[in-house]
Amino acid sequence: MNASSNVQKPFLTVLSGQEASPSPIWLMRQAGRYLPEYRALRSRAANFLDFCFRPELAVEATLQPIHRFGLDAAILFSDILTVPWALHQKVEFLEGEGPVLAPLRSADDIDRLWTEGVTERLAPVYQTVTGVAAALPEHTALIGFAGAPWTVTAYMVEGHGSRDFLIAKGFGMAKPDLFDRILDIVTTATIDHLSAQIVAGAEAVQLFDSWAGVLAEREFRRWVIEPTVRIVTALRARHPGVGLIGFPRGAGGLLPDYARETGVSAVGLDTQVPLGWAMKVLPPGLPVQGNLDPVALLTGGQSLSEGIRQILDQTTGRPLVFNVGHGVPISTPPDNVAELVRLVRGG
Ligand code: CP3
Repeated sequence: MNASSNVQKPFLTVLSGQEASPSPIWLMRQAGRYLPEYRALRSRAANFLDFCFRPELAVEATLQPIHRFGLDAAILFSDILTVPWALHQKVEFLEGEGPVLAPLRSADDIDRLWTEGVTERLAPVYQTVTGVAAALPEHTALIGFAGAPWTVTAYMVEGHGSRDFLIAKGFGMAKPDLFDRILDIVTTATIDHLSAQIVAGAEAVQLFDSWAGVLAEREFRRWVIEPTVRIVTALRARHPGVGLIGFPRGAGGLLPDYARETGVSAVGLDTQVPLGWAMKVLPPGLPVQGNLDPVALLTGGQSLSEGIRQILDQTTGRPLVFNVGHGVPISTPPDNVAELVRLVRGG
Protein backbone atom coordinates (compact mmCIF):
# COMPACT_ATOMS: atom_id res chain seq x y z
CA MET A 1 0.00 0.00 0.00
CA ASN A 2 1.27 3.44 -0.82
CA ALA A 3 -0.09 6.89 -0.08
CA SER A 4 -2.07 7.06 -3.32
CA SER A 5 -3.89 3.75 -2.81
CA ASN A 6 -7.02 5.42 -1.45
CA VAL A 7 -7.51 7.69 -4.44
CA GLN A 8 -10.42 6.54 -6.59
CA LYS A 9 -9.16 5.83 -10.07
CA PRO A 10 -12.09 5.91 -12.54
CA PHE A 11 -10.63 3.02 -14.55
CA LEU A 12 -10.56 0.79 -11.44
CA THR A 13 -14.04 1.93 -10.40
CA VAL A 14 -15.40 0.66 -13.72
CA LEU A 15 -13.46 -2.62 -13.55
CA SER A 16 -14.98 -3.22 -10.11
CA GLY A 17 -18.43 -3.10 -11.73
CA GLN A 18 -19.52 0.47 -11.04
CA GLU A 19 -20.34 3.03 -13.70
CA ALA A 20 -18.26 6.19 -13.91
CA SER A 21 -19.04 9.46 -15.63
CA PRO A 22 -17.26 10.46 -17.77
CA SER A 23 -16.15 6.97 -18.83
CA PRO A 24 -12.46 6.35 -18.22
CA ILE A 25 -10.42 6.09 -21.42
CA TRP A 26 -7.19 4.47 -22.55
CA LEU A 27 -6.22 3.13 -25.98
CA MET A 28 -4.70 -0.11 -27.15
CA ARG A 29 -1.26 0.75 -28.66
CA GLN A 30 -1.46 4.20 -27.11
CA ALA A 31 2.34 4.18 -27.04
CA GLY A 32 3.85 3.69 -30.46
CA ARG A 33 5.10 4.99 -33.75
CA TYR A 34 2.28 7.50 -34.32
CA LEU A 35 3.94 9.61 -31.58
CA PRO A 36 7.06 11.55 -32.66
CA GLU A 37 8.44 11.31 -29.10
CA TYR A 38 8.11 7.49 -29.31
CA ARG A 39 10.08 7.39 -32.57
CA ALA A 40 12.82 9.49 -31.00
CA LEU A 41 13.05 7.22 -27.96
CA ARG A 42 12.87 4.06 -30.08
CA SER A 43 15.93 5.17 -32.07
CA ARG A 44 18.03 4.89 -28.89
CA ALA A 45 17.55 1.09 -28.71
CA ALA A 46 19.41 -1.46 -30.83
CA ASN A 47 16.17 -3.31 -31.65
CA PHE A 48 12.60 -3.65 -30.41
CA LEU A 49 13.28 -6.34 -27.76
CA ASP A 50 16.22 -4.33 -26.42
CA PHE A 51 13.81 -1.40 -26.15
CA CYS A 52 11.31 -3.54 -24.20
CA PHE A 53 14.03 -4.77 -21.82
CA ARG A 54 15.57 -1.40 -20.97
CA PRO A 55 13.45 -0.12 -18.09
CA GLU A 56 14.61 3.50 -18.44
CA LEU A 57 13.34 3.50 -22.06
CA ALA A 58 10.24 1.37 -21.47
CA VAL A 59 9.13 3.52 -18.50
CA GLU A 60 9.40 6.62 -20.67
CA ALA A 61 7.50 4.96 -23.58
CA THR A 62 4.71 3.95 -21.16
CA LEU A 63 4.42 7.48 -19.80
CA GLN A 64 4.54 9.37 -23.13
CA PRO A 65 0.82 9.03 -23.98
CA ILE A 66 -0.09 9.79 -20.35
CA HIS A 67 1.87 13.03 -20.42
CA ARG A 68 0.48 14.04 -23.80
CA PHE A 69 -3.19 13.07 -23.38
CA GLY A 70 -3.87 12.56 -19.65
CA LEU A 71 -5.45 9.14 -20.22
CA ASP A 72 -7.04 7.25 -17.30
CA ALA A 73 -4.75 4.24 -17.58
CA ALA A 74 -1.19 3.56 -18.66
CA ILE A 75 -0.42 0.20 -20.26
CA LEU A 76 3.00 -1.25 -19.59
CA PHE A 77 5.26 -0.84 -22.61
CA SER A 78 6.36 -4.36 -23.55
CA ASP A 79 5.21 -7.06 -25.98
CA ILE A 80 3.31 -10.35 -25.85
CA LEU A 81 6.27 -12.14 -27.49
CA THR A 82 8.58 -11.57 -24.52
CA VAL A 83 7.11 -14.79 -23.07
CA PRO A 84 8.32 -17.08 -25.92
CA TRP A 85 11.67 -15.27 -25.68
CA ALA A 86 11.78 -16.00 -21.93
CA LEU A 87 11.05 -19.67 -22.73
CA HIS A 88 14.27 -19.58 -24.85
CA GLN A 89 12.57 -19.63 -28.21
CA LYS A 90 14.40 -17.45 -30.72
CA VAL A 91 12.36 -14.25 -31.26
CA GLU A 92 13.34 -11.29 -33.43
CA PHE A 93 11.52 -8.21 -34.62
CA LEU A 94 12.65 -7.37 -38.14
CA GLU A 95 12.17 -3.79 -39.29
CA GLY A 96 9.20 -3.57 -41.60
CA GLU A 97 8.40 -7.27 -41.23
CA GLY A 98 7.20 -7.77 -37.67
CA PRO A 99 8.04 -10.69 -35.40
CA VAL A 100 9.99 -13.75 -36.59
CA LEU A 101 10.33 -16.80 -34.32
CA ALA A 102 12.12 -20.14 -34.78
CA PRO A 103 8.91 -22.16 -35.26
CA LEU A 104 8.00 -25.06 -32.96
CA ARG A 105 6.98 -28.05 -35.05
CA SER A 106 8.18 -31.20 -33.22
CA ALA A 107 8.50 -32.78 -29.78
CA ASP A 108 12.23 -31.93 -29.90
CA ASP A 109 11.46 -28.26 -30.51
CA ILE A 110 9.17 -28.27 -27.48
CA ASP A 111 11.73 -30.12 -25.34
CA ARG A 112 14.20 -27.33 -26.03
CA LEU A 113 11.98 -24.72 -24.32
CA TRP A 114 13.20 -23.74 -20.85
CA THR A 115 10.21 -23.62 -18.55
CA GLU A 116 12.24 -22.62 -15.50
CA GLY A 117 13.39 -19.08 -14.82
CA VAL A 118 10.80 -17.25 -16.92
CA THR A 119 10.20 -14.46 -14.40
CA GLU A 120 13.95 -14.13 -13.78
CA ARG A 121 14.50 -13.51 -17.50
CA LEU A 122 11.63 -11.06 -17.55
CA ALA A 123 12.82 -9.13 -14.48
CA PRO A 124 13.44 -5.91 -16.50
CA VAL A 125 9.71 -5.88 -17.35
CA TYR A 126 8.79 -5.86 -13.65
CA GLN A 127 11.35 -3.13 -13.04
CA THR A 128 9.52 -1.10 -15.70
CA VAL A 129 6.19 -1.71 -13.94
CA THR A 130 7.62 -0.48 -10.65
CA GLY A 131 9.18 2.55 -12.32
CA VAL A 132 5.92 3.51 -14.01
CA ALA A 133 3.86 2.95 -10.84
CA ALA A 134 6.09 5.41 -8.99
CA ALA A 135 5.73 8.08 -11.67
CA LEU A 136 2.00 8.01 -12.52
CA PRO A 137 -0.43 10.79 -11.64
CA GLU A 138 -2.64 9.67 -8.73
CA HIS A 139 -5.84 9.23 -10.77
CA THR A 140 -4.10 7.13 -13.46
CA ALA A 141 -4.17 3.33 -13.22
CA LEU A 142 -1.46 0.94 -14.44
CA ILE A 143 -2.37 -2.02 -16.65
CA GLY A 144 -0.08 -5.02 -17.10
CA PHE A 145 -0.66 -7.50 -19.91
CA ALA A 146 0.20 -10.70 -21.67
CA GLY A 147 -0.86 -12.46 -24.82
CA ALA A 148 -3.44 -15.16 -24.18
CA PRO A 149 -2.12 -18.72 -24.61
CA TRP A 150 -3.72 -19.38 -28.01
CA THR A 151 -2.41 -16.15 -29.56
CA VAL A 152 1.11 -16.64 -28.18
CA THR A 153 1.15 -20.34 -29.13
CA ALA A 154 -0.03 -19.39 -32.61
CA TYR A 155 3.06 -17.18 -33.11
CA MET A 156 5.32 -19.85 -31.56
CA VAL A 157 4.14 -22.54 -33.99
CA GLU A 158 3.57 -20.40 -37.09
CA GLY A 159 6.87 -18.53 -36.60
CA HIS A 160 5.53 -15.19 -37.83
CA GLY A 161 2.36 -13.17 -38.22
CA SER A 162 -0.39 -14.50 -40.46
CA ARG A 163 -3.90 -13.63 -41.56
CA ASP A 164 -5.38 -17.00 -40.61
CA PHE A 165 -2.65 -18.89 -38.68
CA LEU A 166 -3.31 -21.99 -40.79
CA ILE A 167 -0.07 -23.70 -39.80
CA ALA A 168 -0.70 -23.25 -36.08
CA LYS A 169 -4.35 -24.31 -36.35
CA GLY A 170 -3.48 -27.29 -38.50
CA PHE A 171 -0.72 -28.31 -36.09
CA GLY A 172 -3.17 -28.15 -33.18
CA MET A 173 -5.64 -30.35 -35.02
CA ALA A 174 -3.08 -32.85 -36.35
CA LYS A 175 -0.95 -33.11 -33.20
CA PRO A 176 -3.20 -32.24 -30.27
CA ASP A 177 -0.85 -33.76 -27.68
CA LEU A 178 2.13 -31.65 -28.77
CA PHE A 179 -0.04 -28.58 -29.19
CA ASP A 180 -1.52 -29.02 -25.70
CA ARG A 181 2.01 -29.26 -24.28
CA ILE A 182 2.87 -25.87 -25.75
CA LEU A 183 -0.43 -24.33 -24.60
CA ASP A 184 0.18 -25.68 -21.12
CA ILE A 185 3.75 -24.30 -20.97
CA VAL A 186 2.57 -20.91 -22.19
CA THR A 187 -0.38 -20.86 -19.76
CA THR A 188 1.86 -21.56 -16.76
CA ALA A 189 4.43 -18.95 -17.87
CA THR A 190 1.64 -16.41 -18.45
CA ILE A 191 0.23 -16.89 -14.95
CA ASP A 192 3.68 -16.31 -13.43
CA HIS A 193 4.39 -13.35 -15.73
CA LEU A 194 1.10 -11.60 -14.94
CA SER A 195 1.41 -12.38 -11.26
CA ALA A 196 4.89 -10.81 -11.18
CA GLN A 197 3.53 -7.68 -12.92
CA ILE A 198 0.79 -7.41 -10.28
CA VAL A 199 3.32 -7.81 -7.48
CA ALA A 200 5.45 -5.07 -9.10
CA GLY A 201 2.52 -2.64 -9.18
CA ALA A 202 0.11 -3.42 -12.04
CA GLU A 203 -3.43 -2.72 -10.81
CA ALA A 204 -5.19 -4.70 -13.53
CA VAL A 205 -4.08 -6.94 -16.38
CA GLN A 206 -5.31 -7.50 -19.91
CA LEU A 207 -5.09 -10.77 -21.83
CA PHE A 208 -4.74 -10.10 -25.56
CA ASP A 209 -6.28 -12.95 -27.58
CA SER A 210 -5.76 -11.14 -30.86
CA TRP A 211 -6.25 -14.24 -33.01
CA ALA A 212 -9.23 -15.81 -31.21
CA GLY A 213 -11.30 -14.95 -34.29
CA VAL A 214 -9.65 -17.50 -36.59
CA LEU A 215 -10.92 -20.46 -34.54
CA ALA A 216 -14.06 -22.56 -34.96
CA GLU A 217 -16.20 -23.25 -31.91
CA ARG A 218 -14.51 -26.48 -30.77
CA GLU A 219 -10.99 -25.03 -30.88
CA PHE A 220 -12.21 -21.74 -29.39
CA ARG A 221 -13.49 -23.62 -26.35
CA ARG A 222 -10.31 -25.71 -25.89
CA TRP A 223 -7.67 -23.17 -26.83
CA VAL A 224 -9.22 -19.84 -25.86
CA ILE A 225 -11.76 -20.40 -23.08
CA GLU A 226 -10.09 -23.29 -21.19
CA PRO A 227 -6.59 -21.76 -20.76
CA THR A 228 -8.17 -18.39 -19.92
CA VAL A 229 -10.18 -20.07 -17.15
CA ARG A 230 -6.90 -21.46 -15.77
CA ILE A 231 -5.28 -18.02 -15.80
CA VAL A 232 -8.27 -16.26 -14.22
CA THR A 233 -8.58 -18.92 -11.51
CA ALA A 234 -4.86 -18.83 -10.65
CA LEU A 235 -4.63 -15.03 -10.60
CA ARG A 236 -7.79 -14.65 -8.49
CA ALA A 237 -6.34 -17.11 -5.98
CA ARG A 238 -3.03 -15.22 -5.80
CA HIS A 239 -4.40 -11.66 -6.07
CA PRO A 240 -8.04 -11.46 -4.99
CA GLY A 241 -9.78 -8.41 -6.36
CA VAL A 242 -7.35 -7.71 -9.22
CA GLY A 243 -9.07 -6.56 -12.42
CA LEU A 244 -8.76 -8.97 -15.35
CA ILE A 245 -9.74 -7.82 -18.83
CA GLY A 246 -10.14 -10.44 -21.54
CA PHE A 247 -9.88 -9.29 -25.16
CA PRO A 248 -10.88 -12.18 -27.45
CA ARG A 249 -10.65 -10.31 -30.74
CA GLY A 250 -13.07 -11.68 -33.32
CA ALA A 251 -14.88 -14.01 -30.88
CA GLY A 252 -18.19 -13.08 -32.54
CA GLY A 253 -21.07 -15.26 -31.38
CA LEU A 254 -18.83 -16.98 -28.83
CA LEU A 255 -18.32 -13.74 -26.88
CA PRO A 256 -21.12 -14.36 -24.33
CA ASP A 257 -19.77 -17.85 -23.53
CA TYR A 258 -16.26 -16.41 -23.25
CA ALA A 259 -17.47 -13.74 -20.81
CA ARG A 260 -19.51 -16.11 -18.68
CA GLU A 261 -17.21 -19.13 -18.60
CA THR A 262 -13.85 -17.38 -18.13
CA GLY A 263 -15.08 -15.14 -15.30
CA VAL A 264 -13.01 -12.13 -16.48
CA SER A 265 -13.82 -8.82 -14.74
CA ALA A 266 -14.42 -7.07 -18.07
CA VAL A 267 -14.49 -7.96 -21.77
CA GLY A 268 -12.76 -5.99 -24.47
CA LEU A 269 -15.00 -5.61 -27.51
CA ASP A 270 -13.39 -5.49 -30.94
CA THR A 271 -14.51 -3.05 -33.61
CA GLN A 272 -17.00 -5.44 -35.21
CA VAL A 273 -19.02 -6.29 -32.10
CA PRO A 274 -22.52 -4.80 -32.47
CA LEU A 275 -23.07 -2.96 -29.19
CA GLY A 276 -26.85 -3.37 -29.12
CA TRP A 277 -26.38 -7.14 -29.36
CA ALA A 278 -23.55 -7.19 -26.80
CA MET A 279 -25.66 -5.28 -24.26
CA LYS A 280 -28.37 -7.97 -24.55
CA VAL A 281 -26.23 -11.10 -24.50
CA LEU A 282 -23.44 -10.25 -22.03
CA PRO A 283 -23.98 -10.95 -18.31
CA PRO A 284 -25.87 -7.99 -16.79
CA GLY A 285 -23.55 -5.46 -15.18
CA LEU A 286 -20.36 -6.94 -16.69
CA PRO A 287 -18.05 -4.02 -17.58
CA VAL A 288 -17.12 -3.68 -21.24
CA GLN A 289 -14.19 -1.98 -22.94
CA GLY A 290 -14.09 -0.67 -26.48
CA ASN A 291 -14.83 -0.41 -29.28
CA LEU A 292 -14.25 2.63 -31.49
CA ASP A 293 -13.11 1.80 -35.00
CA PRO A 294 -9.47 2.97 -34.96
CA VAL A 295 -9.89 4.25 -38.52
CA ALA A 296 -12.04 7.08 -37.07
CA LEU A 297 -8.77 8.33 -35.55
CA LEU A 298 -7.26 8.82 -39.00
CA THR A 299 -10.06 11.02 -40.24
CA GLY A 300 -11.12 12.82 -37.06
CA GLY A 301 -14.02 15.27 -37.42
CA GLN A 302 -17.57 14.01 -37.71
CA SER A 303 -16.86 10.29 -38.09
CA LEU A 304 -14.88 10.50 -34.86
CA SER A 305 -17.50 12.42 -32.90
CA GLU A 306 -20.37 10.27 -34.21
CA GLY A 307 -18.47 7.05 -33.51
CA ILE A 308 -17.87 8.18 -29.93
CA ARG A 309 -21.47 9.32 -29.40
CA GLN A 310 -22.83 5.99 -30.60
CA ILE A 311 -20.69 4.01 -28.17
CA LEU A 312 -21.57 6.24 -25.23
CA ASP A 313 -25.30 6.08 -26.08
CA GLN A 314 -25.42 2.34 -26.71
CA THR A 315 -23.65 1.39 -23.48
CA THR A 316 -25.76 3.47 -21.08
CA GLY A 317 -26.50 1.48 -17.95
CA ARG A 318 -23.31 -0.61 -18.16
CA PRO A 319 -19.85 0.21 -16.81
CA LEU A 320 -17.71 1.28 -19.79
CA VAL A 321 -14.00 1.74 -20.31
CA PHE A 322 -13.73 3.71 -23.53
CA ASN A 323 -11.14 2.29 -25.94
CA VAL A 324 -10.52 1.50 -29.57
CA GLY A 325 -11.62 -1.88 -30.94
CA HIS A 326 -8.02 -2.64 -32.02
CA GLY A 327 -4.72 -0.76 -31.84
CA VAL A 328 -4.17 2.91 -32.70
CA PRO A 329 -2.90 2.96 -36.34
CA ILE A 330 0.63 4.22 -37.09
CA SER A 331 -0.67 7.03 -39.33
CA THR A 332 -2.92 8.53 -36.61
CA PRO A 333 -2.44 12.30 -36.17
CA PRO A 334 -1.82 12.68 -32.40
CA ASP A 335 -4.18 15.68 -32.32
CA ASN A 336 -7.07 13.36 -33.17
CA VAL A 337 -6.30 11.34 -30.05
CA ALA A 338 -6.40 14.54 -27.99
CA GLU A 339 -9.74 15.34 -29.62
CA LEU A 340 -11.06 11.86 -28.80
CA VAL A 341 -10.16 12.23 -25.13
CA ARG A 342 -11.77 15.66 -24.99
CA LEU A 343 -15.01 14.41 -26.60
CA VAL A 344 -15.29 11.33 -24.35
CA ARG A 345 -14.93 13.64 -21.38
CA GLY A 346 -17.81 15.73 -22.65
CA GLY A 347 -15.79 18.64 -23.99
O1 CP3 B 1 0.87 0.85 -26.04
C1 CP3 B 1 0.63 -0.36 -25.89
O2 CP3 B 1 -0.41 -0.92 -26.31
C2 CP3 B 1 1.61 -1.19 -25.06
C3 CP3 B 1 2.58 -1.96 -25.73
C4 CP3 B 1 2.21 -3.14 -26.64
C5 CP3 B 1 2.97 -3.46 -27.78
N1 CP3 B 1 2.51 -4.64 -28.30
C6 CP3 B 1 4.10 -2.65 -28.30
C7 CP3 B 1 4.56 -2.87 -29.68
C8 CP3 B 1 1.23 -4.14 -26.51
C9 CP3 B 1 0.11 -4.25 -25.50
C10 CP3 B 1 1.45 -5.08 -27.57
C11 CP3 B 1 0.64 -6.31 -27.74
C12 CP3 B 1 0.87 -7.16 -28.91
N2 CP3 B 1 2.05 -7.45 -29.53
C13 CP3 B 1 -0.15 -7.93 -29.54
C14 CP3 B 1 -1.59 -7.99 -29.10
C15 CP3 B 1 -2.37 -6.81 -29.56
C16 CP3 B 1 -2.57 -6.73 -31.06
O3 CP3 B 1 -2.00 -5.79 -31.66
O4 CP3 B 1 -3.24 -7.61 -31.61
C17 CP3 B 1 0.46 -8.64 -30.60
C18 CP3 B 1 -0.24 -9.58 -31.57
C19 CP3 B 1 1.85 -8.35 -30.58
C20 CP3 B 1 2.92 -8.91 -31.44
C21 CP3 B 1 3.57 -7.85 -32.24
N3 CP3 B 1 4.42 -6.90 -31.72
C22 CP3 B 1 3.48 -7.64 -33.63
C23 CP3 B 1 2.65 -8.46 -34.58
C24 CP3 B 1 4.30 -6.53 -33.93
C25 CP3 B 1 4.62 -6.00 -35.30
C26 CP3 B 1 3.52 -5.20 -35.87
C27 CP3 B 1 3.84 -3.75 -35.72
O5 CP3 B 1 2.93 -2.99 -35.32
O6 CP3 B 1 4.99 -3.38 -36.04
C28 CP3 B 1 4.84 -6.05 -32.71
C29 CP3 B 1 5.75 -4.90 -32.53
C30 CP3 B 1 5.31 -3.83 -31.57
N4 CP3 B 1 4.80 -4.07 -30.32
C31 CP3 B 1 5.42 -2.41 -31.76
C32 CP3 B 1 4.95 -1.82 -30.59
C33 CP3 B 1 4.91 -0.33 -30.26
C34 CP3 B 1 5.98 -1.72 -32.99
C35 CP3 B 1 7.45 -2.03 -33.11
C36 CP3 B 1 8.41 -0.85 -33.16
O7 CP3 B 1 8.23 0.20 -32.53
O8 CP3 B 1 9.43 -1.05 -33.83
